Amino acid sequence: MVPWSLRQVSSRRWRQAQEHEAHFWIQPNALPPQQDRVAQRYAGLLEELDRQGQVGGRILEVGSGPTCVSARLGNRLRVFADPLMALYRSLCADAVPGHFVATVGEQLPFADASFDAVFSFNVIDHVFSPARFVSELVRVLRPSGLVIIGVYTHPRLFAAVRTLLDRALPWARELPHPFFFSRHSLLHLLRHCGLQVERVVCVHAPNHIPALHRQDWVGVARKPAGLAFRSPVSASAR
Ligand SMILES: C[S@@+](CC[C@H](N)C(=O)[O-])C[C@H]1O[C@@H](n2cnc3c(N)ncnc32)[C@H](O)[C@@H]1O
Repeated sequence: MVPWSLRQVSSRRWRQAQEHEAHFWIQPNALPPQQDRVAQRYAGLLEELDRQGQVGGRILEVGSGPTCVSARLGNRLRVFADPLMALYRSLCADAVPGHFVATVGEQLPFADASFDAVFSFNVIDHVFSPARFVSELVRVLRPSGLVIIGVYTHPRLFAAVRTLLDRALPWARELPHPFFFSRHSLLHLLRHCGLQVERVVCVHAPNHIPALHRQDWVGVARKPAGLAFRSPVSASAR
């Protein structure tokens, strides 16, 4: 079952987060520090998986923003998807090689098993339904392919309290984040969607009082060869 803290939010709450997101990226000079962040945190892991032959020739990055970290993986079919793609294309992207699609991750316009690997960094706490989001990534992934999902995580109690505050007190919201994950809820969600978790890697942790600060964790999970597609999201969880 999807825990209460990961149940779908209203479209109004999600649009509020997305407005904040758009404002963030159009600020002058917003992009270069974020490109540095994704390079420092995720590029090494992607390149390692690629060297091990785990990535394949067809890759999808969902919620790519304008940073498109998987663009650094060499010559192959690269698809970048994001609901704000029109904005991002105007900001940056002729330099990035690939195909660009404006879409939400919860409803991807791709056939089942179209990709060898699917990435998403710093996105599942911004979506409107994390469970639908991950199950769509699983649907478009080929059997035995890898899903790589990074997210800021918090101590479990902190994540629960922040979620409660978000739902109960609109003025107390952290606007861009409808969801607050813990490492536990990230793992729970990946398994709930039928994935086999192979690794969870901490790619960023502040070195002062780490238990009180958010940390950036990446889950590397495989779609079992025999996983038939099913929607793992019950009606009540949507
Ligand atoms: C914090 S940004 C991260 C961008 C990039 N991955 C990075 O790390 O720089 C979050 C991104 O998630 C996208 N996003 C929000 N809701 C989404 C959804 N339902 N499906 C796919 N992407 C979504 C936003 O448009 C935004 O580009």
